[in-house]
Amino acid sequence: MSTAADLERILDARWSDLEAALKVTSSLDELARIRASYVGREGILRALFQSLSQYPAEERPTAGQLLNAAKSRWTELLEQHQRALAAQGRVAVPSLLDRTLPGHPPLIGHRHPLTQVIDEILGIFERLGFTVVEGQEIETPFYNFDALNIPADHPARETFDTFFLNSAGPDAYLLRSHTSPMQVRYLQAHSPPFRIVVPGRVFRPDAVDASHCFQFHQIEGLVVEPEVTLADLKGVLTAVARAVFGPTVRMRFRPHFFPFTEPSAEVDISCIFCRGHGCPVCRQRGWLEILGAGMVHPHVFAAADRPPTTRGLAFGLGIERIAMLKYGIDDIRLFFENDVRFLHQF
Ligand code: DAH
Repeated sequence: MSTAADLERILDARWSDLEAALKVTSSLDELARIRASYVGREGILRALFQSLSQYPAEERPTAGQLLNAAKSRWTELLEQHQRALAAQGRVAVPSLLDRTLPGHPPLIGHRHPLTQVIDEILGIFERLGFTVVEGQEIETPFYNFDALNIPADHPARETFDTFFLNSAGPDAYLLRSHTSPMQVRYLQAHSPPFRIVVPGRVFRPDAVDASHCFQFHQIEGLVVEPEVTLADLKGVLTAVARAVFGPTVRMRFRPHFFPFTEPSAEVDISCIFCRGHGCPVCRQRGWLEILGAGMVHPHVFAAADRPPTTRGLAFGLGIERIAMLKYGIDDIRLFFENDVRFLHQF
């Protein structure tokens, strides 16, 4: 038979257990579990109340008082602990948040491969004393054609098939088909001597395929200086080609026709893939065409009201072509589709 004294010992021991358990409890979930096991429906206290009937009749009142006193002490202690937890703010911190996990690094983009190639080439020209200027994408027939010695009836206009924005007449606006118009605009506004390069986007109504697009990029160059010669043209272009493609690259200047230069040349580099021996990229020729160039035609100077004694050299290079050769890209459309799987490779 149990006595009230036995019960008192049991309650003291449980009290100590409860205090010890609460000392290491810092979450509400845990606190709820402890509350249930001490004062809940299936808890310790409830079991002790149920065992009251086993006590001798004269012990029962004292045992009952002990149990009631324990009940309020335990409950008070549990509530006190809950208030303490809330005050510490631990309750508000969801256990899902793990402050020790590494953060998500922000996605940082980078310059488009074409922009990288343009910047690289412009940097080379700047070291050679050139100034970078930009033109306008919407032009007039005067700057895109007439001032560049391409009169309305000239067959060369057909090679510069053009997007017209309104009529095709003399007061038309069009999307420039090359960056050469800036030669005349700059000559009108600035007194020589000067050296400029003009990067920019140009437009032609070409059917889109692996090597053609209705838009692409060029860099135009214009040097107007009193003593400038074809030798300077070769020197500048050779220096730039070697800076872009490597010091062993060889140059070939092929006579060609452009209305706005005389003499004119198409300029090739030795094939960077087979070093000139012949391969599929250069179609066994050993050479790759990269730009057009020449000495500025006197008619261009006349259109800009410059005297006939003015001397200048000019060139125009296609950026996509150079970027494709430099990086071994076989489809021009990749530059404009903006597929990040492509762009991230540069
Ligand atoms: N504008 C020409 C084109 O788009 C390229 C060109 C050739 C530019 C010769 C020049 C030049 O300045 O001298 O095909």
